Amino acid sequence: MRKREIIAVGGGKGGVGKSLLSVNLALALSQLGKSVVIVDGDLGSANCHTLLGITRIEKSIEEYLKEELSLDQVAVPTRFPHLSLVCGAANKMDVYLERPNAGEHLLRDVVGLDYDYIVLDLGAGMSDVTLDLYNLSHLKIIAVTPQFTSLQNAYSFIKSAFFRSLMQHESLNEYLPQMSDPVVFRKIMLALAPHLEARKDYEAALQDQKFKIAGNMISAKTEVAIIKKMSVIVKEFLDIDSEQFGIFSQSHDVQSSINKLTPFLELFPNDENSRELKRIARTIDGQPAEVPVRGWWKFWQAASN
Ligand SMILES: Nc1ncnc2c1ncn2[C@@H]1O[C@H](COP(=O)(O)OP(=O)(O)OP(=O)(O)O)[C@@H](O)[C@H]1O
Ligand SMILES: [Mg+2]
Repeated sequence: MRKREIIAVGGGKGGVGKSLLSVNLALALSQLGKSVVIVDGDLGSANCHTLLGITRIEKSIEEYLKEELSLDQVAVPTRFPHLSLVCGAANKMDVYLERPNAGEHLLRDVVGLDYDYIVLDLGAGMSDVTLDLYNLSHLKIIAVTPQFTSLQNAYSFIKSAFFRSLMQHESLNEYLPQMSDPVVFRKIMLALAPHLEARKDYEAALQDQKFKIAGNMISAKTEVAIIKKMSVIVKEFLDIDSEQFGIFSQSHDVQSSINKLTPFLELFPNDENSRELKRIARTIDGQPAEVPVRGWWKFWQAASN
């Protein structure tokens, strides 16, 4: 029996590095000798396969959604030991996901994948199935860049995922109309007696929503402070806790790795971004932590809350 830890990489739409981080984190975990599968959750313009050097998709989540093959059967080996990939869809698959129970089947089958780590690249949207995949994951990573629009998108994603998780609880149904204002909603929840079902479900949902922030494309210490502000705002308005996952530099090497169809972790294993990811992979896997790679950490610690 494998560990079956599900790691989701989500965040805002539009090129913040979700796919790059998913692929390279998965590779770093597989290099520790663990069995890893990446599920490319982009149902429309998938590209994890390209980042791994796979130029021709033989089978993908499309065959799974069309009910031709099981999810396990569409996982293909990559040229990297211990690392498999469920390719995303190159065609729009909404029509298949709209069928009754299709979303539930996908969630159930993702949970059933027999690997040590299941890394979900959540793709760009905020569809119900994307939010549900995020909500069921054990480790939630939110990728952001220091652009305000990216932070705004990430905040919307976190808020939508939280509300979707609240909606799963019958005890909270009567409070749905108040959920659109998170501050008012929180006050209502905190006014409930601690032993009430609704209050307990709310507290449990808050715990489940804890996430880690991956700051990407950083090129100045002031940008680290901007990313940190994000966790402060989420705490202030939604009361959700977060921690730093990692800070990744804006890097020419990362960009050049894409057109070389090779993960940057393989091309530039000693680059600071690669070393940061390898350190994180060891921590996720419970192996002795190494010292943080370089200066961004001190700017994170120094930035005010
Ligand atoms: N650390 C980095 N340094 C330099 N460029 C980067 C870095 N991270 C991402 N990029 C650039 O951003 C682009 C988008 O990255 P990626 O495809 O991983 O984003 P995404 O969040 O998955 O996008 P989408 O929302 O479309 O799925 C890359 O093609 C690359 O050009
Ligand atoms: Mg992507």
